[in-house]
Amino acid sequence: MHLHTQVVLILTQLFLIVRVTDQTKCALTSSYGTVSVSYFATLPSSALETDAEDIDVDADVGRHRIDLTPLVPTADSPPQSDYPTYNDDTEDVNSFLKVLSCSDTSLRAVNEEYLRPVDSYKGILLERVPVQNPSADHLALKNENYLEIVRWRDSNVTEQQVALTFARDERKFSNLLILDLSANLLSTIRRDYFSRLERLKLLQLSANQLHNLPSDIFNDLSNLVELDLHGNRVGELPLHLFRPLGKLRVLNLANNTIHDLPRNSFAGLGNLTELHLAHNRLYVVPFQVFKELRSLEVLDLSSNMLVSFLDNFFLLNKQLRVLRLNGNIIEKISKNALYGLRRLQSLDLSSNKLVFIDRNAFDTLDELRYLNVNQNQIYILPSTVFSALRSLRSLDLSNNLMRALPNSIFASQHSLVRLHLDATNLESLSNWVSRNNHTVNKEILRNLRYLSIRNNTRLKEIEPCVFRNVPNLETL
Ligand SMILES: *[C@@H]1O[C@H](CO)[C@@H](O)[C@H](O)[C@H]1NC(C)=O
Ligand SMILES: *[C@@H]1O[C@H](CO)[C@@H](O)[C@H](O)[C@H]1NC(C)=O
Ligand SMILES: *[C@@H]1O[C@H](CO)[C@@H](O)[C@H](O)[C@H]1NC(C)=O
Ligand SMILES: *[C@@H]1O[C@H](CO)[C@@H](O)[C@H](O)[C@H]1NC(C)=O
Ligand SMILES: *[C@@H]1O[C@H](CO)[C@@H](O)[C@H](O)[C@H]1NC(C)=O
Repeated sequence: MHLHTQVVLILTQLFLIVRVTDQTKCALTSSYGTVSVSYFATLPSSALETDAEDIDVDADVGRHRIDLTPLVPTADSPPQSDYPTYNDDTEDVNSFLKVLSCSDTSLRAVNEEYLRPVDSYKGILLERVPVQNPSADHLALKNENYLEIVRWRDSNVTEQQVALTFARDERKFSNLLILDLSANLLSTIRRDYFSRLERLKLLQLSANQLHNLPSDIFNDLSNLVELDLHGNRVGELPLHLFRPLGKLRVLNLANNTIHDLPRNSFAGLGNLTELHLAHNRLYVVPFQVFKELRSLEVLDLSSNMLVSFLDNFFLLNKQLRVLRLNGNIIEKISKNALYGLRRLQSLDLSSNKLVFIDRNAFDTLDELRYLNVNQNQIYILPSTVFSALRSLRSLDLSNNLMRALPNSIFASQHSLVRLHLDATNLESLSNWVSRNNHTVNKEILRNLRYLSIRNNTRLKEIEPCVFRNVPNLETL
């Protein structure tokens, strides 16, 4: 055989292999299967009802992953419009509709082999299917009417792709529920990109470069349940931005550069249950800026530059269950700063500059289970500061400056399971459950199983009653 022919043969084989691998980078299925999206959802009421064993309450709260099924129509809640009209039932329609998943392949291959020829997709899930030509590339959808989910993430998608794919007059995305464009290069967005997505429930725009949000962009998305904008460059929230989103339950604005929250920033979000504002640049926030959020259960303000909260700041957020204030520069918790949070279960105040906690600061936190004050500068604690916290299960006072804990400081902690007292200036441990140094009461701290008192370099004296009062200790 001639060399020339051999080369051609090898090239042909290579070409075949490339084509074959290219095809295996896409999969067609008839359902969403194990595909899941980040969906914060409301916390199930049992989320915090952990057993003594896994008392690490904080790990349970916050992010939950559930699969798509609740958002996507099923036989019980059939899709609303524009489905092919067969004589028979939904089952046939469903088996006719397909889900396309592709990763690490070219947009051209996806468009030519899958999108242009087939008009019956209900889901298109693309990951690392990069844009090559930003001014022209888009999803070459033959028919968008059945689409429920479009994901095109980690693919260098810019606003031009969004405009070319979604903002076209002849397009009708009347069944689209989930749009995920995370980890791309979007820097600005416009109202008309989303104006045909009127049933949309989840809009995922995290990890882009969004900085300027026009105040009307969400006006046509009144059915949105979750909006994720975390990891962008948003510095300001225009007035009334969220007002059209009365059904929104989860709003994630974490990891942006927000430095200012106008007083009415959250007006209209009466159904919001989770607000994530961690890792921003918040310094001063207006009094009761969250007052419209009457359904709020989770508020994350961690890793900002917050200094203090005025009395009654959270008074109208009566449903709050999880409050994260860690990683700020808060110096004191005054008497009524947390007043009225009767449902609060988890409070994280760690890594602040607290020197002082008012003795009545926690008085209305009847349900608090988890309290973290680690890494502050507290040098004195009033003896009754924890006396209202009868549900408290986990308390972390490590890395503070106090030299002593007043007698009877834990006299109400019948539920306490875990106590951390590492790296303090404690010089002695005296009676935690009674004013008198010698009183023994095995009942009060009977649930305490885990006690950590490491690195207390000044600790010289431990009253014998300390250990007699914690009869069920398992780990020291
Ligand atoms: C996106 O663009 C960057 C920079 O040009 C490149 O390094 C990266 O690989 C691209 N992403 C994909 C999925 O191709
Ligand atoms: C909350 O959602 C319900 C049902 O989706 C709706 O009827 C109600 O108007 C919403 N509340 C607000 C304040 O928009
Ligand atoms: C915040 O953004 C930076 C840079 O975009 C990233 O490296 C970091 O992982 C993000 N953190 C979170 C919590 O999303
Ligand atoms: C109780 O013990 C602490 C620490 O050992 C000590 O400083 C204090 O004086 C004692 N109080 C009484 C009333 O004996
Ligand atoms: C105790 O101190 C050592 C050395 O400073 C440190 O490595 C360790 O993490 C500390 N342990 C605790 C529980 O603070």
